[in-house]
Amino acid sequence: MRSLHVDEFNHDDCANEYDEDVKNEKKDPIRAGYEATLQWVVDNANLSKESRVLELGSGTGNLTRKIEACGEIVCVDISTEMEQVGRPKLSHLENRSFIVDDILEVLIKDIGFFDTVISTYTAHHLVEGEKKLFFKRIWNRLRPGGLAVFGDLMLDTEASKKIKIDYYRNNGDEKTAIAIEEEFFWIVDKSVLEMEKAGFDPVDVKRFSDLSYGIKAKKPAS
Ligand SMILES: C[S@@+](CC[C@H](N)C(=O)[O-])C[C@H]1O[C@@H](n2cnc3c(N)ncnc32)[C@H](O)[C@@H]1O
Repeated sequence: MRSLHVDEFNHDDCANEYDEDVKNEKKDPIRAGYEATLQWVVDNANLSKESRVLELGSGTGNLTRKIEACGEIVCVDISTEMEQVGRPKLSHLENRSFIVDDILEVLIKDIGFFDTVISTYTAHHLVEGEKKLFFKRIWNRLRPGGLAVFGDLMLDTEASKKIKIDYYRNNGDEKTAIAIEEEFFWIVDKSVLEMEKAGFDPVDVKRFSDLSYGIKAKKPAS
C-alpha cells in the first residue's frame, strides 16, 4: 500500500521553483542547514565505485549530484517533474536509474539489495507509523554491514513540537509553525529507538540547524 500522503506531497507543482527555494537558508528556517545536511549525508554514506545505492525521494537531484561515483544508483520519487529538473545534473552517474514510486511501497518490490540507502527531506512526509515500517523495510533492503543515512526536518522530542510551533508563531513565522503542525517532522528520540528496534547499531545523530538533522544507522555485518 502507498503511503497516506504521497499524492499531497508529490512536488510536481513546485518543481521549477524548488532549487531557488532551497537556497533561502538565511531567511527560511525550513531551509536552514540544507546544503550542510546533504553534504553530510553523502560524506557519511561510505560510497565506493562498487557501491549499490538506493536514494528515496531524489527530487531535483541535489543530493544525487554530490555523489562523484558509485557502482549503481537507483533513485525513487513520486514526482516526474522534479526528476525532469534533476536529470541534466546527473549525467556523470552512468549507472543511474529512476523509478516513479512511493518511497514506502518501492521497498517491498523486487529492487534487490543495497550497500547504502540515502534520503533527504522526504521521510517527513510519512506519518509516524509509516516511518517505523520505513526503517524496517530499509533494514530488509540493506546488505549486512550496509548503511542508511538520512537528512531531514526533525524535532528532538515530542514535547519540543508544541514549543517550536509556539516559538515560530509568536515570532510571526506562521508558515514554519504550520509546516511543523501539518507535516510529520521526525521525532529524533522516537526514530532512533525505532531504528535500534529494527536492528541498526550504532545509530548516530547530528544537528545542522534548528530543524535539520542527520541520522546515520548501520546494519551490523553479522
Ligand atoms: C522536499 S523534496 C526533497 C528532495 C531532495 N531529496 C532534496 O533533498 O532536495 C521531497 C521529495 O519527495 C517526494 N515525495 C514526497 N513524498 C513521497 C513519497 N511518499 N514517495 C515518493 N516520493 C515522495 C516529492 O515529490 C519531492 O521530490
